[in-house]
Amino acid sequence: MDRYCVMGNPVEHSKSPWIHARFAELTGHSLQYGKRLVPLDGFAQAVTDLRAEGGLGCNITVPFKFEAARLAQHESARARLAGASNFLLFRSDGIFADNTDGAGLVNDIQANAGVALAGRDVLLIGAGGASAGVLGPLIEAKVGRITVANRTPDKARALVERHAALARQHGVQVDSSELAAVQSPYDVVVNATASSLSGAGVPVSPLVLKPGALALDMMYGPAAAGFMDWARAHQAVPRDGLGMLVEQAAEAFLLWRGVRPPSAQVLAELRATLA
Ligand code: ATR
Repeated sequence: MDRYCVMGNPVEHSKSPWIHARFAELTGHSLQYGKRLVPLDGFAQAVTDLRAEGGLGCNITVPFKFEAARLAQHESARARLAGASNFLLFRSDGIFADNTDGAGLVNDIQANAGVALAGRDVLLIGAGGASAGVLGPLIEAKVGRITVANRTPDKARALVERHAALARQHGVQVDSSELAAVQSPYDVVVNATASSLSGAGVPVSPLVLKPGALALDMMYGPAAAGFMDWARAHQAVPRDGLGMLVEQAAEAFLLWRGVRPPSAQVLAELRATLA
């Protein structure tokens, strides 16, 4: 049977095996999708092992997304720009790396949350791997303007510089800022920092929220609760990262299997199992 898995550390609580099993059932595909806890110094070996066992590819989660991008012989333009990969496909001519996180975020915002991104002002909070994975696809969605705001502004500046040519090509204005300096209102605010995980609170002023703005945290479950409460308290529409999770998986399924699975249905089912 065709085999895939998600590799990470930790990986125990990953929903990806459940999501891909449902995609396979609903599209009539026969496959096996597991999860592998990979030692911090053992990522390359784990990929070699999966290939030797006849695996066809894998998803990558924390902390191996950067290493995955470096390991591959071939990569998509969006993975190269991100410098990080959450998707590997084992081809006869080598390993192909892609990054489906950004497409997942854009699809979730547009198709599931019903917010058309074209022409909107977007604030992206954070400049680590999670931000790097989504900035390119947000630009390609032809938003009006994106500000990347980060506690360490140099990292935001470097990320923006790397995307300058893409932004010019799509006519999108992209700038960077220190977190506390952002005071103007945005239509869409995306939290891609690890701050909710550490319980540090929301690292930005509520002035960034236009009334009715979409405020999305890439986390889900208790880790997203603080940001969602903050958004609700300031008349924004809160959204967690569960939709992005399902949509990045749907994009991966499409790349591996050639079929787009019914992601909205699987998202609704996943929410019901977690309620
Ligand atoms: P990831 O791959 O999840 O993006 P990362 O590369 O370690 O992880 O990046 C974490 C992001 O969360 C960074 O933007 C980080 O800000 P710095 O670049 O200034 O370190 C941000 N972050 C983490 N804890 C934070 C906090 N308490 N307040 C604000 N930003 C925080």
